Amino acid sequence: MQDYLEANKGRFLEELLELLRIPSVSADSKFKGDVRQAAEYVRESLAKAGADVAELHETAGHPIVYGEKIVDPSKPTVLIYGHYDVQPADPLELWTSPPFEPVIKDEKIYARGSADDKGQFFMHVKAFEAMMATDSLPCNVKFMIEGEEEVGSNNLGTFVSQNREKLKADVILISDTAMISNDTPSIDTGLRGLSYVEVEVTGPNRDLHSGVYGGAVANPINTLAKMIASLHDENGHITIPNFYDDVVELSAEEREMLESAPFNLEEYKADLAIDDVQGEAGFTTRERASIRPTLDCNGIWGGYIGEGAKTVLPSKAYAKISMRLVPNQDWNKITDLFAAHFQSIAPKSVKVTVTPHHGGQPYLTPLESAAYKAAEAALTESFGKKPVPTRGGGSIPIVALFEKELGLKTVLMGFGLDSDSIHSPNEHYGLFNFYKGIETIPLFFKHFTALS
Ligand code: BES
Ligand code: MN
Ligand code: MN
Repeated sequence: MQDYLEANKGRFLEELLELLRIPSVSADSKFKGDVRQAAEYVRESLAKAGADVAELHETAGHPIVYGEKIVDPSKPTVLIYGHYDVQPADPLELWTSPPFEPVIKDEKIYARGSADDKGQFFMHVKAFEAMMATDSLPCNVKFMIEGEEEVGSNNLGTFVSQNREKLKADVILISDTAMISNDTPSIDTGLRGLSYVEVEVTGPNRDLHSGVYGGAVANPINTLAKMIASLHDENGHITIPNFYDDVVELSAEEREMLESAPFNLEEYKADLAIDDVQGEAGFTTRERASIRPTLDCNGIWGGYIGEGAKTVLPSKAYAKISMRLVPNQDWNKITDLFAAHFQSIAPKSVKVTVTPHHGGQPYLTPLESAAYKAAEAALTESFGKKPVPTRGGGSIPIVALFEKELGLKTVLMGFGLDSDSIHSPNEHYGLFNFYKGIETIPLFFKHFTALS
């Protein structure tokens, strides 16, 4: 196995770079053809690696790539999930090299999708190829690589519920998260849920002269800003009534275990060029970004934003708001609580509409499961160090849905780093991480087969 990996690592990288050159931006219909081309590339690479089945499944949106290799029906089955779609690359002017022309700099691959998630799921394709080529695949494997993760996985739920038999497996394995650092391997044992909403505040029926009407008629931008500001109190708590009702508070032992993982606040601040952090009173920075729910305005607009000045009192103002949720909050319930509260705090001088976008439930991996133990053993073997359990702050909404629809737990064996700039300009993924992942995945298969 090691010989095969060593002999082929240059080609593995070349093939990943080829995939990274395809701008598979799922959010923007302009890239629809590219998204399909990326799906086709993934399908082909699964077929070439030795899958018996490698097919595209059409959906109402972008296609899903499905592949499988059944070595023996009596053996366990690992279902690999990943996504070949990427976030939009803008703002383009902040990239030091074009987002879809990957370059290697300082031992890192710079390209949109390099870490999230092309570079990570492609490790599984190459690990599978290596196990096939060296006759060492110890159990069955299935692949489900989708093209709509970054836009809410709207069509994957239907695919999953219509293909329960096909997707039958013993565990789901995903590499789409980060670890603490290259010398401190870790495994995310939880993901936050998400509720994403858009709000619209309407004042007068048309834009007005801000001198003729200003001061006498509600300005929807002023009103919206005040409403958003009121959603947190002075302790950083969210003020929506009943928002925290279902939040699972961690025991002192659990908090202590999570806090024992290395973290340097000074480096964290220096990396972000901030003089201080901010958040909910009574919780550490890491807790605020993982085990606590949040509410953030992601975008706000309205009025005149062109060059120069225009004296206008706008008719409308808008904002996009995300809430990250923790066990056992329910995203539909939180969305309803938000909508009711946001309506209730609106002054009579404006009208408010709240439109839910998408969301997903939070998720937890049990530390005592065979799958977690297998991932722990695999990372221990490849890093020479036992991985630390952590809780991830991001969301992969489909993971909770897999549990509900397929009754399957997921192991989040991610090889990225928080500093990879995912969703940002200059996204990158370390060559170390790419190769380490390819080396570790077969070890997971070995340990999982032995433990099941
Ligand atoms: N891979 C990320 C999620 C992630 C990143 C989890 C880092 C843990 C650590 C995923 O592609 C993502 O970006 N998810 C979105 C949610 C989705 C509904 C758009 C997110 O978390 O904003
Ligand atoms: Mn991702
Ligand atoms: Mn993402």
